[in-house]
Amino acid sequence: MGHAQGSLLSCSVLRFGTGIVTLATCAFRPAKCETHDEPPRWTQARQAEVRAAARSCLDRGHPIGPEFSACVDNAVWPTGPRHFLQEHLETLRNFSCASNDTGTPPIFTMNVTLESGYAACPADGPAANPTGKGSYGYIPLESEIHQDFSYLPGVLPAGNDLPSFQDDMTAEEAANYCASLSECQGFTFSAESPMGPAYVHFKSTVESFRANVPSNDPKQPWHTYRRRRPGTCAAQTEESTVLGRAMLGSAPSFTVEVVREKPLVAIIRNFASADECDEIVRRSGDWSTMARARVFNGGISRKRQSYQFSIKPNLLDSADMVTSLISRMFALTRNLTGFAVYPPGQEPLNVVLYRDVGDEYRPHCDGGCHGRSYERGERIATSILYCRIPELGGATTFTNDALKVVPRSGDMLLFAYWLGGNLMAGQDGEHSGCPILKGQKLVATQWYREGVDVDWNWEAMADLRGSQIEQ
Ligand SMILES: *[C@@H]1O[C@H](CO)[C@@H](O)[C@H](O)[C@H]1NC(C)=O
Ligand SMILES: *[C@@H]1O[C@H](CO)[C@@H](O)[C@H](O)[C@H]1NC(C)=O
Ligand SMILES: *[C@@H]1O[C@H](CO)[C@@H](O)[C@H](O)[C@H]1NC(C)=O
Ligand SMILES: *[C@@H]1O[C@H](CO)[C@@H](O)[C@H](O)[C@H]1NC(C)=O
Repeated sequence: MGHAQGSLLSCSVLRFGTGIVTLATCAFRPAKCETHDEPPRWTQARQAEVRAAARSCLDRGHPIGPEFSACVDNAVWPTGPRHFLQEHLETLRNFSCASNDTGTPPIFTMNVTLESGYAACPADGPAANPTGKGSYGYIPLESEIHQDFSYLPGVLPAGNDLPSFQDDMTAEEAANYCASLSECQGFTFSAESPMGPAYVHFKSTVESFRANVPSNDPKQPWHTYRRRRPGTCAAQTEESTVLGRAMLGSAPSFTVEVVREKPLVAIIRNFASADECDEIVRRSGDWSTMARARVFNGGISRKRQSYQFSIKPNLLDSADMVTSLISRMFALTRNLTGFAVYPPGQEPLNVVLYRDVGDEYRPHCDGGCHGRSYERGERIATSILYCRIPELGGATTFTNDALKVVPRSGDMLLFAYWLGGNLMAGQDGEHSGCPILKGQKLVATQWYREGVDVDWNWEAMADLRGSQIEQ
């Protein structure tokens, strides 16, 4: 009896607006109840119904956003929320994109004042390395080997060898030896353990490091240690603090409109000055020669129809307007998300031009999405700075709750998709750039990662994860 009850409780029979009834087959096992849930069919008529409901909900004063989304759901699927149907969500997104409205009203607005003289690097210096066992195996700490060397799983290519004086060395012995030679920049070896012992190749340069290159013997992967380079937070704590101070000057203040609290979606009004935006536009070069957006494996991005250009800022040049802008983005992102994100080792600023009518970015996630678990070093938040705004179209939408951000020139959108611990946001991170209907749009996207620095930079992390990043 208990079993039967368990099964019955876990199988609810749903009725939909159309009168379709779910077929539920329940084995008499409490935990194993399979419902053969016949999904409601998506038809032209259904789509027209969703559009009509959207029009009516908007006209009745439900601004595009959670209220509007609930209103449409109630109208179209009165007896069972079926809004997770992809086609339904996409129809709402398309409706929202085509509408000339002011977007989702914020839940609240606040003023944030950044401290003047913030540190551009983490106060504690290094220790940015992911440590312990991850998908990339054991990563030794600096303190286990040598303070001046950082470890990376991967190989330095053949050539540029310095003489080795011993057949077998531990990583610690090799680091001490390399540290004693001014021309030694790092070393590489193949061994079971990143601690050695092994036959060590000492190198006069650490250029062309490759992560994840298979070794002849899979049990003996490649390990590389690089001398920490100037420009890392470890080497330049004082300088980077001075830099931060110079760049921020007096404490800047921003008005922040919070559209969703968790995971955060916020608009920072007037984040960049007209001069800063002009500099970004200038640095992105001649629009007529910009390349179509591509994914890492070289193909043309199917999801994105736009043009792009990367700006790699010189983080040690405080006179550079883009450097100071980026440092301000990171300081504000730290404040609003609490994430420990700093400029060194991050992806370059990605400038994206939506040049032609119809150019858009279809719904997608920038980082982990759809329930994957978090790994240190991956993208956890994104900001989009809007420097050129189209006359019509080009808003940013979020799939869930139909959130819509209608930017003004100089505004920045910030959204997060790490929930802490090993939890990444699911579809809450999915967003899109609406088609341009009139005019052109130019945005500068910055992605944020915790645990990267000059050595453990985003490329090494991306290599390790073997991930394909939409570019
Ligand atoms: C939404 O619009 C895009 C073009 O922006 C189109 O390709 C797609 O088919 C539309 N989807 C739906 C469900 O109408
Ligand atoms: C869009 O809406 C704004 C504000 O309501 C209005 O001033 C503008 O004329 C509209 N644009 C178009 C092309 O309908
Ligand atoms: C934010 O600051 C502006 C002026 O600096 C002020 O008018 C506004 O009331 C402040 N808003 C909040 C929510 O404190
Ligand atoms: C963000 O800045 C405000 C001052 O505007 C400060 O009160 C708050 O503690 C800061 N939050 C974080 C997480 O740094």
